[in-house]
Amino acid sequence: MQNGLTEFIRHVPKVELHVHLEGATQPETLLRLARRHSIRLPADTVEGIRQWYTFTDFPHFLEIYFKVCDCMRTPDDLEWVTREFLQGQAAQHIRHSEVTYTPFTHYRQTGLPFDEQLDAINRARTWGEAELGVTMGLIIDIDRGGPPEGGPLTLEWALQGRDHGVIALGLGGYEPDFPPDIFADVFDQAHAENLPCVLHAGETGGPESIWSALRVGRSRRIGHGVRCLEDPALVAELRERQIPLEVNPTSNICLGVFDSFEQHALPRLLEAGLYVTLNSDDPPMFNTTLTDEYLKAAATFDLDVGTIEQLVINAVRAALLPPTVRANLEREFYADFGRLRREYLVGNHS
Ligand code: ADE
Ligand code: ZN
Repeated sequence: MQNGLTEFIRHVPKVELHVHLEGATQPETLLRLARRHSIRLPADTVEGIRQWYTFTDFPHFLEIYFKVCDCMRTPDDLEWVTREFLQGQAAQHIRHSEVTYTPFTHYRQTGLPFDEQLDAINRARTWGEAELGVTMGLIIDIDRGGPPEGGPLTLEWALQGRDHGVIALGLGGYEPDFPPDIFADVFDQAHAENLPCVLHAGETGGPESIWSALRVGRSRRIGHGVRCLEDPALVAELRERQIPLEVNPTSNICLGVFDSFEQHALPRLLEAGLYVTLNSDDPPMFNTTLTDEYLKAAATFDLDVGTIEQLVINAVRAALLPPTVRANLEREFYADFGRLRREYLVGNHS
């Protein structure tokens, strides 16, 4: 790939729509948290943690994911993890992130009340906005495989947090055994309250899971959605409605959805006229970053600068921000595209 495009991607402003707060914890931080709480992890070095992050399948990933969550036990832990996360986003020029967080998992493990969890995350959010100039919204998600009471309780918390950084209700976890139908009442109520819903679907589940996310969950965007290609009628529906897909290529490879980056569905999704955004999911657990996702996609599929800019703008336009904020961000991004093209691409054929 052209050096100029690499530099363009590194510096271009970005928006990230699909990243899990817990799954974004750096290995160094995880080790410090474990030490702080005398938790024994299977490894006590960064290299060991990276090796531990080798997943045989999705259920194995979730097992490790819950151990990572278990290391975040106090408001202080949550504030620290969020601050580090925002620093990492700022370093990648990610100006706005919509961050998935699963409060019921922590409530169940530690009894920490939701308002204390949210206050801690919000202290970091306020700091990130003031000191780093980056914003974040929280997608409070239900673990579909968790106890059923997690659904209504998470909805209640999401509504309670709405004026305090919560922007949507999510649904994560293993799709095949837990369709959104289990939580139909919860999604109906969210809809009645005008609370946006953003569901994971079409990652570990096939097209039926995406249909349910649309019908039952009235999902504004689809977390992953890559398996829509198995159903032409679904592709047509997603294209007509321009439902944004939150695509996470490296995550899909690490969790066995595709065998390699080369075989990932990304170019086929673009060719089908679908609304694609690029995201990192649980970046350190997959040894990636959002910038790396753009770099790998550009290099593997020979994407040009116009396609990169379109992917970035797709994320801006699909963000759950007030329309004026979104429009301002888009204007600023276009101005930066021009500046960065002139800096890195014009007359640079290296
Ligand atoms: N929770 C964290 N990462 C996830 C993923 N990739 N799919 C579903 N649930 C998740
Ligand atoms: Zn996810």
